[in-house]
Amino acid sequence: MTYYEKKKLKNWLEAKRLKKTPNIEQGTMTIDRNFPIGEPVLEVKNISLRFGGVKAITDSSFSVLKHEIKAIIGPNGAGKSSLLNCINGIYQPQEGSIAFKGEVLEKITPNLIAQKGISRTFQNLALFKRMSVLDNILVGRRLHMNSNFMQVAFQLPKARAEEKENLIKCEEIVEFLEIAEIKNTPVGKLPYGLQKKVELGRALATEADFLMLDEPMAGMNVEEKREMCRFILKVNDELGTTMVLIEHDMGVVMDISDNVVVLDYGQIIADGPPDEVRANQEVIDAYLGVSHD
Ligand SMILES: Nc1ncnc2c1ncn2[C@@H]1O[C@H](COP(=O)(O)OP(=O)(O)OP(=O)(O)O)[C@@H](O)[C@H]1O
Ligand SMILES: [Mg+2]
Repeated sequence: MTYYEKKKLKNWLEAKRLKKTPNIEQGTMTIDRNFPIGEPVLEVKNISLRFGGVKAITDSSFSVLKHEIKAIIGPNGAGKSSLLNCINGIYQPQEGSIAFKGEVLEKITPNLIAQKGISRTFQNLALFKRMSVLDNILVGRRLHMNSNFMQVAFQLPKARAEEKENLIKCEEIVEFLEIAEIKNTPVGKLPYGLQKKVELGRALATEADFLMLDEPMAGMNVEEKREMCRFILKVNDELGTTMVLIEHDMGVVMDISDNVVVLDYGQIIADGPPDEVRANQEVIDAYLGVSHD
């Protein structure tokens, strides 16, 4: 976390800048939402993850409700990314269980998780810089490609039909994200904010109904953040996608999340609506107390 981010956090915790993020309408997600918040869809129970002597996550439990936007916050190294990595099978926690849509997931692998309908973006951009926007988004359709190598190599009707269908889906996504005019541009030539949007597009291409975003606004300027917020809300509101979002900008967290989980030193110290979490003494201590950098 940068000095600037820490300062912003401090202000947020002291309620000086409460609900002042410009142009993001307060309460849009709670009033008249298309997809009302439902029952828990993801249940993480007593997860512990260790790397040798390092305890990345300790006995942590939380759930994510259907259609909600849940933020995960916490100081650097608190275990936020590790938590997402456990949910999507990159890391295997030594203890605990993860249930998705009522089913306890055994032997979680990234492939299995994708098949179940969970997708994610990464803290650091993971795009093919020389490939176009559309081709990068097409990568997200991998799960929906059933033709075998021979069918593709000889362009047999099944492969051609499938390719066309996938392309149509990706064209819909670029329209949805309002990036149609740059769809043929190599991703490496785009500004950072747009690249992050392409990553979101690729996650959407999987048609997952549960999306995890690891710092989708890190390194963005105010304008880019505002734009990303707009699309996170749009995805949630128009597609009904349940979203888990790791974010350091408390203005953003306050404005777009329904609930917030706070991690500190690998442990969940608070879980609830943004206003409640903001007033939690343990959260205030975690941020304003000893620096963890
Ligand atoms: N693959 C790994 N091998 C060893 N230690 C790891 C590994 N991944 C994470 N850790 C450690 O686990 C702890 C939690 O890291 P994690 O990346 O989950 O934190 P974070 O909350 O996402 O931090 P940040 O805000 O900086 O992204 C840290 O101490 C980190 O060094
Ligand atoms: Mg992280």
